[in-house]
Order: sequence, then structure tokens, then C-alpha cells
Amino acid sequence: MCGSASGRVMEVIESLVEKADGFLQRVGRPFVTLSYAQSLDGCISARAGEPLAISGSESLILTHQLRAHHEVILVGIGTILSDDPRLTVRLVEGKNPRPVILDSRLRVPATARVFSQNGRSPMVVTRNGNSQERCRALVEVGATVLTVDPNSRGQVSLHSLLDRLGQMGVKSVMVEGGSRVITSFLLARLADYAVLTVSPVFVGGLRAVSDLNQSDPKCFLRIKNPGHQWLGDDLILWGDLA
Ligand SMILES: NC(=O)c1ccc[n+]([C@@H]2O[C@H](COP(=O)([O-])OP(=O)(O)OC[C@H]3O[C@@H](n4cnc5c(N)ncnc54)[C@H](OP(=O)(O)O)[C@@H]3O)[C@@H](O)[C@H]2O)c1
Repeated sequence: MCGSASGRVMEVIESLVEKADGFLQRVGRPFVTLSYAQSLDGCISARAGEPLAISGSESLILTHQLRAHHEVILVGIGTILSDDPRLTVRLVEGKNPRPVILDSRLRVPATARVFSQNGRSPMVVTRNGNSQERCRALVEVGATVLTVDPNSRGQVSLHSLLDRLGQMGVKSVMVEGGSRVITSFLLARLADYAVLTVSPVFVGGLRAVSDLNQSDPKCFLRIKNPGHQWLGDDLILWGDLA
């Protein structure tokens, strides 16, 4: 354990806790925070399928602080296969959020670190049509397999998933990536708040956000009530997503 987020960054955490309070009752789904670390040119890794440590140590502490203030941490199967993340809170005091993995075809290996580290039953979210044997192997390592409606691309429908999480009483979800999942949340207009780390490097690799099908600048997705703070060499940007 080493440290805590300080200064204006504590305001971010307090603000999102306040925004998440009562959101489920009002809106019928959990409050969603999008949070990831990108380079100056908007990349989250050098190549798809490869991890890249992009944040400085102070921004990493912030990420763990954010994790500790959300009930669920959500990533795509691409991130599990490339980074094998633990998705735990290690750099500050706090509870681990429950991991949720979007995985339409149940490709997640039962040996993934998320199953042995977290202490809270990770949820693998899929669509129907997968083998019972795969489901059983995941249940054996402590996972819960949740089947939801597919979207038009045959992947997990984010609307159905958030409805189901809401019915389970989940109040807050932190979406950490990767690129396809970030893009899907933005496209579906299902992210309510963003906390982004911008690291002062050019990477020229995998963009955090791909095609959002936007052409009219008046309709571009934007952060409202923006705030910022330097943490070491990294710029932290936050605000409400319309
Ligand atoms: N810098 C950072 O903060 C950060 C954070 C996280 C990850 N990353 C990086 O991001 C990269 C991985 O990104 P990625 O785009 O390849 O994978 P990803 O976004 O982690 O996972 C995408 C996969 O999730 C599944 N999925 C199911 N439902 C989905 C939905 N509604 N929308 C989108 N995806 C859905 C799809 O696979 P199926 O069709 O098989 O279900 C899809 O291919 C890695 O290089 C990792 O290091 C960086």
C-alpha cells in the first residue's frame, strides 16, 4: 500500500461518488465511469493485443483509488487475453470491485489471473450458444457466467447488461478498456463520466477510440464541466459525458 490520490483528484472521486448516489433509482442502471490511460496521440497500447504501461506511478494510484470507489470493474476479453490483469485494488486501501468481462464466445482461459486474485466472483458476460463445458470450467474457478441478449454484431448488448446489473442492485461500473469496449460505450452513449490519464508520449499504436460515426462537430461527444490536474508528468482530465 503506498499513498492516496490528493488535491483536486480527491474532488473527482467525491464528485463521482455523489453523482452515482441515487443514479440507479433515477435511471434504472448503474452509473458508468470510463477511465483509461492514453498517449498524446490517443493510443492505449503500441499494438492491439499487447500491454503497455503508459501511466506514471501517481496516476496509477488514482486508477486504484477509482477502482476502490466502484462496485464493478469492466473490461473486454481482448484486455484479458493481452494483459491478463488482476483488476484489484493494490496501491491504496479499499475494496476490490467485482470484475466483469465481456466475452461473447467464452474465450477467457480458466487460468486468467482475474480468477485467482480478486476474491469477488468475477462475472463473465456472454450470449447464448456457448458450450456447457466452457461454462462449467469457468464456474469451477469461481466465475459466474451471465448470459444476456446479443447486440446486432452478435456481441454482448451493453443496454441488456447494464439493465441486468441494475436489477442486481449494482450502483457503479468503472470501464477500463480496451479499445473496442471503450468505443462501444461511447457509441451507445452509456458512459456518464470520464477520468482520463494523458501521458506525455507519442505511441502511434492502438487508438483508444475508433470510428464513432460522427461528422457534425455540433454533435461530437464532449466532456462537460471539465477539470484537470497534473499528477507527475501525466495530465488527468475529467468531466461529465453528455
Ligand atoms: N491504456 C489503458 O488504459 C488500457 C486499458 C485496457 C486495455 N488496454 C489495451 O487495450 C487492448 C485491448 O483492446 P481490444 O480492443 O483489443 O479489446 P477489448 O476492448 O478489451 O475487448 C474487445 C472484445 O470484447 C468482446 N465484446 C463483447 N461484447 C462487446 C461489446 N458490446 N463491445 C465491444 N466488445 C465486446 C469482443 O470479443 P467477442 O466478440 O469474442 O466477445 C471484443 O472483440 C490491449 O492492447 C490492452 O493492453 C489499455
